Amino acid sequence: MTENHTTTQTGTPVGSDAHSLTSGQDGATALHDRYLVEKLAQFNRERIPERIVHAKGGGAFGEFVVTGDVSAYTKAAVFQPGATTRTVQRFSSVAGEQGSPDTWRDVRGFSVKFYTTEGNYDIVGNNTPVFFIRDGIKFPDFIHSQKRLPGSGLRDADMQWDFWTLSPESAHQVTYLMGDRGLPRSWRTMPGYGSHTYQWINAAGERFWVKYHFHALQGNEEMHGAEAQQIAGEDADYYRRDLYEAIERGDFPAWKVSVQVMPYEDAKTYRFNPFDLTKVWPHSDYPLIEVGVHTLNENPENFFAQIEQAAFSPANTVPGIDISPDKMLMARVFSYPDAQRYRVGTNYNELPVNAPVAPVHNYSQDGAGRHGFKAASAPVYAPNSFGGPVASAEAAGEGSWESDGALVRSAATLHSEDSDFGQAGTLYREVYDDAAKERFLDTIAGAVGGVTRDDIRERAIQYWTNVDAELGAALRARLEAGDLDADQAAEYVGVAE
Ligand code: HEM
Repeated sequence: MTENHTTTQTGTPVGSDAHSLTSGQDGATALHDRYLVEKLAQFNRERIPERIVHAKGGGAFGEFVVTGDVSAYTKAAVFQPGATTRTVQRFSSVAGEQGSPDTWRDVRGFSVKFYTTEGNYDIVGNNTPVFFIRDGIKFPDFIHSQKRLPGSGLRDADMQWDFWTLSPESAHQVTYLMGDRGLPRSWRTMPGYGSHTYQWINAAGERFWVKYHFHALQGNEEMHGAEAQQIAGEDADYYRRDLYEAIERGDFPAWKVSVQVMPYEDAKTYRFNPFDLTKVWPHSDYPLIEVGVHTLNENPENFFAQIEQAAFSPANTVPGIDISPDKMLMARVFSYPDAQRYRVGTNYNELPVNAPVAPVHNYSQDGAGRHGFKAASAPVYAPNSFGGPVASAEAAGEGSWESDGALVRSAATLHSEDSDFGQAGTLYREVYDDAAKERFLDTIAGAVGGVTRDDIRERAIQYWTNVDAELGAALRARLEAGDLDADQAAEYVGVAE
């Protein structure tokens, strides 16, 4: 017998991978062929639930190197001058399922886990700086409207536009989605954003509000409707393949990481509510400050173990970094660990891809799949008199903000220039050039053209009129003339019309 013999999961050598144990050559299969039973049973359990959103993706390991000096704003070790930190990053599409084509129009996820000396820090963002909604209580409804009809199992333009037009705060993000940003050429050639406002705390305890920006050193590159459609049919894994092959040939993609920093007190009087995820802070108000460079330089050895089971969460913060009073962000810090306990299992943080390099000391124990444990003499409760770990506000380095008032269900305070359509109009008029505007009109005409209900279609025209009156008029003219690019409609709703 060689060292390389096949065994059961418990290490016992097995007789054959080709023949089940049968009663005679042509007889019944024996239930006591425990290797056959184990092999089939194990196979049946290979899949875990896919992520409820961002199911299709890919990723790699990398390194974050600090090149700037932001120590005046945060004491987080990961952002101190000279620090180098190992990372894992995952890219994804939001709405599609596991097998979806990478080049369907969508927002792309951009998640980075930093294995810092003070615990794992995750930035779980997108390739757009804003989002469709501003209160987490709407998230399941929003996602339902973008996924599939309960009866036919098909995606549906009516429900997509019904939700968006009844949720006008979506206009800014839909303007990104229907523009060139909705179809990156690759994950390597798109930017990333933390999107939310986060809080930084410096060594003196002073607080700041920050937004993260990742700019691809490869440059930004997009593709357009017909090409994306064709690739979707030919290579559903186009982005996943592109990233993997680039890293294999040593062409490591990198992003420059910067932040916008707002002094704590400015938040009260800033012209936009800084905790509204549907808004950006113009760079003229808060310029970019360099933090470092993030490079992806190592492919996973096992996609399932290291990428599918990776668990990113905005709840993973470190001393010197905290969340902000953004209602979306507060909902997210509950949602991700909850999803991961269900999707991967209670002890998901013990898996190598999720385990911190920082030591873990607390009083949690047991649960399915637990394999790490403490010495038999370690105390199992706090407080104790046996030298167990002690929580420390100073070590935690948490942030805070003032809040009072009765418990209410209400929209957040409007600041002087807050409106659902203002920044969307600015993006369309001032950022898109003439060619981009033309493509944008093609895309929305195609997508709105897929709407079958007249009232929803009329609301969609009004929605774009609110973004820009000329755009709304041009859209109405296109729809009335029936001059639609059917490819563009198919491209977003994911069906061949
Ligand atoms: C309240 C609103 C939101 C809720 C409740 C929510 C919930 C979730 C859940 C449950 C997952 C799956 C997690 C897992 O199974 O590991 C997920 C994944 C993800 N979400 Fe959200 N999400 C929200 C908003 C956002 C926003 C605003 C962004 C970006 C700025 C975002 C970016 C992502 C990304 C990138 C992933 C994939 C993470 C990965 O690569 O594993 N989500 N979201």
